[in-house]
This record gives sequence, structure tokens and C-alpha cells, in this order.
Amino acid sequence: MSELRSIVRGVGGYLPERVMTNDEMSKIVDTSDEWIQQRTGIKQRHIAAEGELTSDLAVAAARKALDAAGLGIEGIDLVIVATTTPDMTFPATAAIVQQKLGMHHGAAFDLQAVCSGFVYAVATADSQLKNGLGKRALVIGAETSSRILDWTDRTTCVLFGDGAGAMVLELAEKDAEDRGILASSLRSDGHHWNKLYTDGGPSSTMSIGHIRMEGKEVFKHAVGNITDVVRDVFEKTGTTVDDLDWFVPHQANKRIIDGAGVKLGIPPEKVVLTVDRHANTSAASVPLALSVAVEDGRIKKGDLVMLEAMGGGFTWGASLIRW
Ligand code: ACO
Repeated sequence: MSELRSIVRGVGGYLPERVMTNDEMSKIVDTSDEWIQQRTGIKQRHIAAEGELTSDLAVAAARKALDAAGLGIEGIDLVIVATTTPDMTFPATAAIVQQKLGMHHGAAFDLQAVCSGFVYAVATADSQLKNGLGKRALVIGAETSSRILDWTDRTTCVLFGDGAGAMVLELAEKDAEDRGILASSLRSDGHHWNKLYTDGGPSSTMSIGHIRMEGKEVFKHAVGNITDVVRDVFEKTGTTVDDLDWFVPHQANKRIIDGAGVKLGIPPEKVVLTVDRHANTSAASVPLALSVAVEDGRIKKGDLVMLEAMGGGFTWGASLIRW
């Protein structure tokens, strides 16, 4: 029997117009450009305009990914939106995205795995396509995290920003180059939920709450968790770090990315780093970084690309793609 692969047809990213620098942040809370850059690598973040919703960011990124794929929305069978900041408690933001893109057919749902959401969504779309749900999926990571920040808490508000990224996947027979998603590895351990969470929600407080985080604890677990899933994916595919062309990590913190890179033996020139431009955009960060590296010509057809992320839950995961 022939083997199937989900091939990347196009990616796209979108950042809201408004840029907020570290210096501007230092007027809101007791912080400095130097502290933020030294601890995180972040220089600025983008903030959604009043009335600009997660679905708007998602649609803007989706349109770019569809254009890059040379497709219209009629070619898509499945929409998955990875988000922690949905427009509303329900319906799924994916349904609103469907409506804004003029799509009446197919299926659409949200996926909630916080910062790992996009990697979880890519793995989910891959398995759904292979299971016969359709031929093409639009996978989006989109967040307006600025709306769930406590703007008086300097330990969290300096870290996050708004944005969206999208990817079009298409099911095809495995070809001679073996392009497409080769393997994914997903993990979670809910025992750590209270190290990174919002202190509210529809069922607990009937409000949305704000991000709370034990930064040191998150940092401590991040590097180990990331390296575990990346190694797992290498093992599953019989590849090694020497075969890798590009490492596209979740853009939360440069120190976490550097730590994982050193532990895995990935040279810095193979790491795509965009956290300086947009801070931690949660589920949007991996597709935003991907879209930058594709648009500037670094990631090319045939390249071996490793995606990884870790976030609240804890959740973490990795996906290896032959571009
Ligand atoms: N500006 C200035 N000073 C600050 C700030 C700030 N924004 N935030 C904290 N500080 C102070 C603290 O109050 C503390 O002061 P004290 O020594 O007088 O008590 C001092 O800086 C050191 O604080 P630490 O928490 O020890 O700083 P640390 O070196 O751990 O860096 C950070 C904090 C950046 C949050 C780090 O722990 C981290 O990166 N953790 C990972 C968190 C992360 O990336 N989360 C994103 C979501 S999860 C994910 O995506 C992987």
C-alpha cells in the first residue's frame, strides 16, 4: 500500500500594526530595555488594535498562506485554529475564521495547548488528513495575549505579544524526495498546570483571568522537555541533528532556545530566531518564525525542518518536516 504524506503548500504570518518597544514598556512597569533583552532576547512586541480580534489576525495570516499555496478557501477541507485567546468562549474561533473567509463547507475547530498549540495542530491535521477527513487543512496559530496580561505585573507583561501564523497542508502520496511531515511527538503533564495559567475562566470565575507564571519553574522544565521530544522525533525518523537544515523553535525566550540548541548540538546558524521582533506570541510563534524564514529564502524545498514548542499544561511537542 502506498504511504501518504501531508505536504506544506504555503505559510503566512501577520503582526498587528502597533509596535510596542521595551522602552515604552518601562513607562508602564518597573523594567528596562536592558533587563528584558538580557533575560529574554525580546526587543519589541505587536499589540492588536481596539476591536481587532484573534479571528482577524488569524484571517490575515490565513490569506497569506493561501496566497503562498496558490489556493482559494474552496480548496480547504479542514480549519484548525490553535489559540488560548479565542474571540469568545464559544463558538470556536475557527468557525468565525470560516465565516470571515467565506467558507461554508468542511470542518473547523479550535485546539487549546497554549504555546504548543501550533505543533499540536500540525500533528492533528496530519493525522486527520491521513485518516481521510479531507485533502487540505488550514492550520493557524493566532493570539491576542495582550488581552489576558496583567499590565501591572512586570514578571509576565513584558514577555508576550499578539500575532498569527498559518500553514496550508495537502495530502499526497509519498514521493521520491519524501517531502511532508515525517513524524511528530506530543507530550503533556497536567501536574504542572499551576506553574503557567490564567487565574480565571468561564467555569471557575465566569471571567477570563490573567496570565500567572512561575518563570523559573517554566524555564527549568522547558529545555529538558524540548530536547526530549526533538530527540524522539529524530529517533522515529532515523535522522540525526546532522541531517537538520533548520530548527524553528517556539519563540518564548532566547535563553531557552539557546539552551535547547546547545543541548541538542544544533549550531546557532541553523536556528530561526524571531522572538526579538514579536516577543512570545504563544501558538502563533512557530508559524510566524516559519513564515519569516520561508519569505527571506532560508527555508527551501527539500530542507529538513524541525518545529518544537512548550507551554502551559505543561504541553510540549515537535514535528519534523521535509519542506
Ligand atoms: N524587569 C525588571 N526586573 C524584573 C522583571 C522585569 N520585567 N521581572 C522580574 N524582575 C526582577 C525580579 O523581581 C527579581 O528581582 P529580585 O532579585 O529583586 O527579587 C529579578 O528580576 C530576577 O527575577 P527572576 O525571576 O529570578 O529572573 P529570571 O532570570 O528567572 O528571569 C524570566 C525571569 C525571564 C521570566 C525567566 O524565568 C524565564 O524566561 N522563564 C521562562 C518563562 C517563559 O518564557 N514563559 C513563557 C511562556 S512558557 C513558554 O513559552 C516556554
